[in-house]
Formats: sequence, structure tokens, C-alpha cells
Amino acid sequence: MTLLAVTDLSAGYGKAKVLHGVTLSVAARQIVAIVGPNGAGKTTLMHAVMGLLPRAGQVSFMGQAAGDVGWMVQRGVVLVTETRALFTDMSVEDNLELGGFSVWRQSRGRQGGRELRSSMADVFDIFPRLAERRRQSAGTLSGGERQMLALGRALMGQPKLLLLDEPSLGLAPKIVADIFRVIGTLRDRGIAILLVEQNARAALQMADHGYVLEMGRVALHGPCSVLAEDARVIETYLGRKREGAASS
Ligand SMILES: Nc1ncnc2c1ncn2[C@@H]1O[C@H](COP(=O)(O)OP(=O)(O)OP(=O)(O)O)[C@@H](O)[C@H]1O
Ligand SMILES: [Mg+2]
Repeated sequence: MTLLAVTDLSAGYGKAKVLHGVTLSVAARQIVAIVGPNGAGKTTLMHAVMGLLPRAGQVSFMGQAAGDVGWMVQRGVVLVTETRALFTDMSVEDNLELGGFSVWRQSRGRQGGRELRSSMADVFDIFPRLAERRRQSAGTLSGGERQMLALGRALMGQPKLLLLDEPSLGLAPKIVADIFRVIGTLRDRGIAILLVEQNARAALQMADHGYVLEMGRVALHGPCSVLAEDARVIETYLGRKREGAASS
């Protein structure tokens, strides 16, 4: 089943057009990767899909024409931005609680409180490091822990579709591997993921389907297994393998 369908989407900032007729889709339980150079419009695409920017073209979610950002959030679409806007003076726990706010508001009262606690237990289950640091203020977390908190906070909203903008940005390889492992876990739990990544190798390994975005247009797309064998993708995004050298 198609969860998210984007057809002929254009968007930009005032007169500066950034996206020119982008078409893509994400099916249930799928990870879809978007790779492309700096400035290609990847972040703009996430924002336009989310309804945070004026756009032309069609976006639909679960068969309905998408509304504004509130409409998207209510239906379980959550964006985790590059900047990982956390409340740095607040504790890990309080940040998570805020992520669950919309769920709490929908079910209200005691039942909402129970749901909140069970979501938080789930998040701590996925990220034991956050449980150990639940009372620490978000501003004192390491980069990797912050990214985990940003993901954890998104999970508190019980998403159906996560839009992840460069979750591995600036993180050490070991932490990147952790984050990608979690992304796999989320997919296994039934959450669909639209993943923007500079780390094309890891993204194409993890995802089912991939899109290459160049200058605001889809230059290439297909199953990741096919993209990963594409000569242009290898040359531009995966780096040429050194001949005769053992690859690591
Ligand atoms: N708020 C803004 N106002 C005007 N132009 C913007 C704004 N945000 C982004 N742009 C421009 O839109 C283009 C696409 O930017 P975008 O951030 O979507 O690229 P990106 O693919 O996410 O790049 P990166 O890999 O560096 O994150 C760039 O030329 C950028 O300068
Ligand atoms: Mg970006």
C-alpha cells in the first residue's frame, strides 16, 4: 500500500524555485532513501512534503490529499530535522514528553498519561542510553545521544511515517552504525521511513528504494540494489572502488 505519494511537486523560497516537478512514493513498511549533493533540494523536499513550505503539485497521505503541517502530524507523519531542534535546558524525559504531546492531547486524561508512559518505555527500550540519562539536560548530551533523543522524541508521536533529514550528520562511524541499526528496527516495527542521507553507501544499503535528487529534479530512481550497481551512482555517490585493493 502506498502511504505517501508525491506527484509533480515544485517548491522554493519566493522567486527562487528549488524543486521542479518531483515525483516519488513511499509504501508501508518501506525505507526510501533520497541522496544527492549539497543544495540539491533534499531538505526543501522534506519541508514541502510536510507542508512547511508553499508548494505546487500533489501530496497525498494514505490516499487523502495532504493538508498543512498540523494535518500531517495528526495523521502520524513526523519530521526529524537536520538541526535536531531539542529543548536544550530541559531533561531527556521532558523532551520525550513533549514529543508525545499530540498523542496525549488526542486521548486526553488518564488514558493519555498511560499511553505516554508506555511510549516512553518503548523509546527507552530502543535507546537504553537515553534511559540512563533521563534526567540529564538535552544540551549536555553528546552528538550521537542528541540524535537518539531527536529520534526518540519523534517516536513518542507514534508515527506511521518518519521523515529523517540526515540522521548521521556529523556523527562518528560507530554511532552512525547504531543510528542505522535503529532505523532498521523502526522499519521492522512497521514505521515507513523517508531518509535523506549524504552517507549514500549506508542509505542505499539500508533502503528498499532510492531516489537521486540533483538540482531539484529526480535524476534517477529505482530499487537500491539496482542503484548501487549503477555506474553513475557508484562514481558520484559511492566513490570509485580502488582496483585490486581489498574493500573494507
Ligand atoms: N530559507 C531559504 N531561503 C532561501 N533559499 C533557501 C532557503 N533554504 C534553502 N535555500 C536554498 O535552496 C537550495 C536547496 O537547499 P536545501 O537545503 O534544500 O538543499 P539540501 O539538498 O538539503 O542540501 P544539504 O545536503 O547541504 O543539506 C539551496 O540553493 C539553498 O541555498
Ligand atoms: Mg539538507
